Amino acid sequence: MSERRPYLAANWKMNKTIEEAEAFLGAFLPRIESGGPDVVVCPSFLALKSTVEHCAQSSVRVGAQNMHEEAAGAFTGEVSAPMLREVGVDAVILGHSERRQYFNESDEALARKVPAALAAGLEPILCVGETEAQRDADDTHAVLTHQVSTDLAEVGLAELDSVVIAYEPVWAIGTGRTATPEQAQDAILFIRNLVREREQGAGERIRIVYGGSMKPENAGELMAQADIDGGLVGGASLDPDDFAAIVAAAQ
Ligand code: 13P
Repeated sequence: MSERRPYLAANWKMNKTIEEAEAFLGAFLPRIESGGPDVVVCPSFLALKSTVEHCAQSSVRVGAQNMHEEAAGAFTGEVSAPMLREVGVDAVILGHSERRQYFNESDEALARKVPAALAAGLEPILCVGETEAQRDADDTHAVLTHQVSTDLAEVGLAELDSVVIAYEPVWAIGTGRTATPEQAQDAILFIRNLVREREQGAGERIRIVYGGSMKPENAGELMAQADIDGGLVGGASLDPDDFAAIVAAAQ
């Protein structure tokens, strides 16, 4: 049994108005006991403040789904780490495959975003993962090596284990096609070994979670794997019963 505390994050993507987020929390928060896994919900920017307020009396923390690497400036439409901190946000998803695919998020930008998040006191949830074509071409390890080494290049050793890494194979996201526990374990162990190469202790301590069609029916089996420390959950996190069941599966 690892010493790492399980970590479950809900990525709501572009779903839930403020009112819908509040309704979710009304049903979800009473089901989450303190002292269990780390639980983070990541609503849209507009629902962050209200979500922080609703979670204040609970152990559930709040994350954003993206941020800009600069603290301020002429970047129309962007939101910075200090702005997120101001409303009480604790974490931020960075490098999600949808941002890489639809918004040209690059590993070079992530190499700046991850340290900027850490410097502002945000916990980065760094997403990495291969596409189906890359897996079929046997490129999974090369892709993961490139993403992890570039995205974390500017993170100092002392801060490395403050990052949470989410292994999200692109072919498993929103497709209903979950990686098998063995596939997820293999890729996550590979990522952990990349961190171990930087520093052995950080490799032991860093939390690496799985994302891609995680649901109550498969969460227990995935999280029972030695190196899988939790999940970044999309579709199933929209339902308070399902997400609470996934959190329960981690204990
Ligand atoms: P699904 O759980 O809907 O497959 O989404 C996973 C994901 O992208 C979480 O960030």
